[in-house]
Amino acid sequence: MRKKYQFCFVIIIGYINLTVLKRVYLMRIRHKPWAKSELEASNFFVRNPDELKGKWHERFAKKQPLHIELGCGKGGFISQAAYLNPDINFLAIDIKYEMLGLARRNISKVFEEHNAKPENVILTVHNIERINLMLDENDSAERIYINFCNPWPRPKHKKRRLTHYRQLMNYRTFLLDNGEIYFKTDDDALFRESLEYFDKCGFQISYITYDLHNSGYGPNIVTEHEKMFSDEGIKIKFLIAKKTILPT
Ligand SMILES: C[S@@+](CC[C@H](N)C(=O)[O-])C[C@H]1O[C@@H](n2cnc3c(N)ncnc32)[C@H](O)[C@@H]1O
Repeated sequence: MRKKYQFCFVIIIGYINLTVLKRVYLMRIRHKPWAKSELEASNFFVRNPDELKGKWHERFAKKQPLHIELGCGKGGFISQAAYLNPDINFLAIDIKYEMLGLARRNISKVFEEHNAKPENVILTVHNIERINLMLDENDSAERIYINFCNPWPRPKHKKRRLTHYRQLMNYRTFLLDNGEIYFKTDDDALFRESLEYFDKCGFQISYITYDLHNSGYGPNIVTEHEKMFSDEGIKIKFLIAKKTILPT
């Protein structure tokens, strides 16, 4: 009987480890020697974003509302969002050239398929933990998207979360009053703790669901990580947080 339990235990631990390994593998990205050169040749990539601090509106073809995606990954979201909303300017930020290289290809493909020009989208490379070096109050963003940011579960790493107090306080500087953060994640602990971060940093939750795909909310653009997690049966958590007055 004891052996049977031991066997079950080994199977369960093996399964958990396999799931974790699969996730790490899927999140990992190989070096792409072409990414940097293709980006630098692209007219919708900005290599030195700090130089445009306070002047992002001038960099777009038209002055219109600005939406920013933090940690855009392979660009599945931004390519669709930008194509479907030509009257919005989109700025997508990631720390990895490899991701941005794939995002550039994705955007070009989506726009080319529809015979359109990607004039309302810009990709740039930056560490979001130091986002205040590249954006200020003159950039007046209307909306920020945070899709499936790293959950950083260990206590000593939590301050790196893109929804952490420190980051939210940074975002307040360039997000308009009543501007919104759209936040999606698969991670229960990150979602729960982010509710506290939003509250303490003067954001009011105007919409929340613990099961986005069965909530009736829409339209929703499914990101790469969203597909991966929902295919595994994990429920997607989503909220909209509105910038209000900072509590004293
Ligand atoms: C888990 S992936 C999610 C990608 C995409 N948003 C999605 O939903 O499929 C997180 C992305 O955030 C980027 N990232 C993580 N930390 C960052 C940081 N501090 N600054 C900029 N990008 C970051 C990673 O390079 C990666 O592309």
